Amino acid sequence: MLESKAGVMLLAGLAFFTLAFVSNAVVPLLMYQDQREQTAEQLVNGNLRYQFEDLARRYPDSFEKAYGKPPEEVVEREKWFNQKTADTLRLGRKLYVGEACWHCHSQFVRPVSNEEQRWRPVSRSIEYQNELQRPVMFGTRRVGPDLSREGGRRSNDWQAVHLFKPTSLSEGSPMPEYPWFFDGSPDKPNARGLAILTYIQWLGSWLESYPYYEQYTPAPLPVEDPSSESQ
Ligand code: HEC
Repeated sequence: MLESKAGVMLLAGLAFFTLAFVSNAVVPLLMYQDQREQTAEQLVNGNLRYQFEDLARRYPDSFEKAYGKPPEEVVEREKWFNQKTADTLRLGRKLYVGEACWHCHSQFVRPVSNEEQRWRPVSRSIEYQNELQRPVMFGTRRVGPDLSREGGRRSNDWQAVHLFKPTSLSEGSPMPEYPWFFDGSPDKPNARGLAILTYIQWLGSWLESYPYYEQYTPAPLPVEDPSSESQ
């Protein structure tokens, strides 16, 4: 076999294939076998809860229409909010996939071209070890900016108005309008609108020292019904 050039090539090809398979599949599998994939429930963190509660305060009617009234009792209420946040995250990710947001937005801060100057910490593999990253939304194009650090960068109402009509906030934006996330106007997000907003605010909210959530410490929830607050 080694007498002919073709034989050497074949052997080399097989050897490189084996090397690639071992380094790209077997080694990562062994490295991460003890690290359980996190569920959406486990992904609910203080920053995200803050944003979800903000939706409840900002859009009380839409919120109640989508989720009903939260229980009054503190412990039950806490559980209720956590579960709704997790369910909403799942729906939000489905919408992100279904609306092909990934067609124009990546979710990966690369360790090249000083990307961390623009988007902050370079992405780490552990950030993708969860239910909402199956399959991962790395994206292949960047018509719009990378979104993996978008959470907390803008307020919910900014995001709502932007989704409703991107050009109203960003002149000449090629991003499509998403009026079906709203019951009429940008201050009336429907269940899907609330979900995509929650998903956007989740992106990067898991980082310990977060570029945009400065000094935010999760506070206990107010006991009164958020839908009775005016804002
Ligand atoms: C045709 C390409 C395209 C699609 C599809 C698209 N976007 Fe965009 N997006 C852009 C561009 C370009 C910008 C930058 C200009 C702007 O702010 O509108 C942007 C900006 C954004 C921003 C603001 C980033 C920031 O902080 O400045 C968010 C958030 C966003 N898009 C989310 C989404 C979501 C969610 C979807 C799917 C529902 C989506 N985009 C679909 C092109 C796209």
